[in-house]
Amino acid sequence: MTKFRRIAGALLLLGSLSLFGTEVEVLHWWTSGGEAKAVSELKNELNANGYTWKDFAVAGGNGSNAMTALKSRVMAGNPPAAAQVKGPSIQQWAELGVLANLDDVAKANNWDKLLPKQFQKIFKYKGHYVAVPVNVHKINWMWVNPAVFRKAGAQIPTTWAEFKVAADKIKKAGFIPVAQGGQPWQEATIFESIVLGIGGPTFYQKAMVDLDAKALGSDTMKKSFDTLRMIKSYTDKNAPGRDWNLATAMVYKGKAAMQFMGDWAKGEFSVAGKHVGTDYLAVDVPQTSGSYLFNIDSFIMFKQKDADKTKGQKELAKLILKNKFQTIFNVLKGSVPVIQGVPRAPFDDIALRSMDEINAAAYTHSLLPSLAHQMAVTDAIRGAVFDVITKFWNSDESSSDATKALVNAVQNEK
Ligand code: BGC
Repeated sequence: MTKFRRIAGALLLLGSLSLFGTEVEVLHWWTSGGEAKAVSELKNELNANGYTWKDFAVAGGNGSNAMTALKSRVMAGNPPAAAQVKGPSIQQWAELGVLANLDDVAKANNWDKLLPKQFQKIFKYKGHYVAVPVNVHKINWMWVNPAVFRKAGAQIPTTWAEFKVAADKIKKAGFIPVAQGGQPWQEATIFESIVLGIGGPTFYQKAMVDLDAKALGSDTMKKSFDTLRMIKSYTDKNAPGRDWNLATAMVYKGKAAMQFMGDWAKGEFSVAGKHVGTDYLAVDVPQTSGSYLFNIDSFIMFKQKDADKTKGQKELAKLILKNKFQTIFNVLKGSVPVIQGVPRAPFDDIALRSMDEINAAAYTHSLLPSLAHQMAVTDAIRGAVFDVITKFWNSDESSSDATKALVNAVQNEK
């Protein structure tokens, strides 16, 4: 066979393969090592069930680039079949009347029984399912390199006072105490855990979820900014612009001692072949034990003209909440299943702890939505809060000025 005929044959085969199943285009921002591995399982599941996954990946942790891409596609009248959207934004998209109703898949697959009651309202609009959740991530984790702590003769901190003592020792021993990236969402991720730790769960709810002006302007908020400033003094000069996964790499390579990040960081440790307990540890952000800041990834589906595409979307929604997918995906992603009753055996200690903590925290009213990760407030308010935190982080603004700025920023967006 000539080379030309071989190539032509291969192209023909490729062509026929893509005709094989209806394409389902999925927008997401899972592009780091661990994230990509996890999302490829969703792709495999869909393809194995007779459809063709069309990847619409937009790089950028926390998804702001992805959300910009989504808005322009919807405005151009050409939305993807499914998009990774979460929290109050689900309601905002639903209000525009562009989302598919998933009630039939939900009913056929018993979602009302499977999904914890306290989370269900996030995925429903006027009582109808318009989103399918994928996982639960915990935000208030601190990732630790135990060897660095040992070499520095430092103790793993459980309070901010202990943190300062440990960080000084680590710095003196020639390591970077805190691996930090320089993007607004990364700064907000630390800040919200600080607020939770210093103010406690009731204060967090008042300030970061209910946006109560008194709580936002309080002394507790000022103290939280002071703590953020203190943490910054333990980061390195190259932090600005650094991606979160590169900060995680600093911890597993032994350059830095700690990172404050949600448990998608675990996906990076795993991809790098690192083992929990020996190579790295996950502990609570100081002063936050017993509270759980949650972040639930989910997909919304856009109404389609083509009946086959609608079927493909529903198949995707169905597969996502099956035990099989909940297990493979969450083990790789670092998160835990969003449905009840998934066998625990395949999960590591960090995940098992997280699963138990969700239930315990729900009981004590300490299960709280993450503001930094789109679960607590609208995108407009979140953006205003990010601006205040980032300005403070990147300047020498005083904590009391930042506190006042926070009250005003939220007031203007409300
Ligand atoms: C998402 C995670 C993702 C992380 C970093 C978070 O907002 O919920 O799924 O891994 O951003 O991109």
